[in-house]
Amino acid sequence: MTDTAAAAAKPRPNPNAPTPQEVLSVEHYTDRLFKFRITRPATFRFRSGEFVMIGLPKEDGKPLLRAYSIASPSWDEELEFFSIKVPDGPLTSRLQKIQPGDHVLLGKKPTGTLVNDALTPAKRLWMFSTGTGFAPFASVIRDPDTYTKFDEVIVTHTCRLEEELAYSIETVAGAKADPLVGEEATAQLRHFTSCTRTPDYPVQGRITTLIENGGLCEAMGVPPLSAENDRVMICGSMEMIQDTKALLEARGFEEGSNAKPADFVIEKAFAG
Ligand code: A2P
Repeated sequence: MTDTAAAAAKPRPNPNAPTPQEVLSVEHYTDRLFKFRITRPATFRFRSGEFVMIGLPKEDGKPLLRAYSIASPSWDEELEFFSIKVPDGPLTSRLQKIQPGDHVLLGKKPTGTLVNDALTPAKRLWMFSTGTGFAPFASVIRDPDTYTKFDEVIVTHTCRLEEELAYSIETVAGAKADPLVGEEATAQLRHFTSCTRTPDYPVQGRITTLIENGGLCEAMGVPPLSAENDRVMICGSMEMIQDTKALLEARGFEEGSNAKPADFVIEKAFAG
């Protein structure tokens, strides 16, 4: 074989292959939920609200990757993720054991529709989330563009148990104290929380129930949801997304995309 032929036969490195990034911190909230932060390569660009593939190498050396919403805003020097722990989940059973100094794999192509660009302008932005579905909104509420585009921003988080709300409570407080967006967030951002399986939590019920019975808008002191005044991002389980989407469509909302911005956008960030 000539040198040229040998060079041609050698497999070329894949420019889109995930890269190892160092784990900087890990915080466990419950036996089902944790947050971790990793290094961000200088070349890694994304829009607040997007997701990316994250993972670990398998025993055979091949990567095991899942889509994860990036929970940090696009200006942050590090990347933050909020994850479920599934005891027998192929990835999260191992990912939940990471420690600072370990490495995780980070994909190179962030993408997604839970971005300001996919919504047309309006008075108010709602972000409806359940469980780890809060993650992309942890990014969006820390982005100054959100407060330029919308006068009012309301992020909702519904979990089974009160202790599962800890990450969103901490992140909203962090946004309000942040040197970059703190002033806007304090003036324009509100947080609505409810629980479905902690009986003494002050606000009970699924977000879908609270939209349907008017309890949500009443609690926030705003008029009923309308395509004229409100824009919506939805993130939770597949069923929650479909049920919430149906409620919006029944109220005349149109689904938007990056190619055709409109009244609401949906996404699902699942990890197994
Ligand atoms: P519930 O306790 O009534 O099932 P999970 O941890 O299973 O993803 O659930 C997170 C939260 O989302 C829970 O409060 C759960 O309520 C709620 N939820 C589950 N399915 C739906 C749905 N189809 N629509 C709205 N909320 C839902």
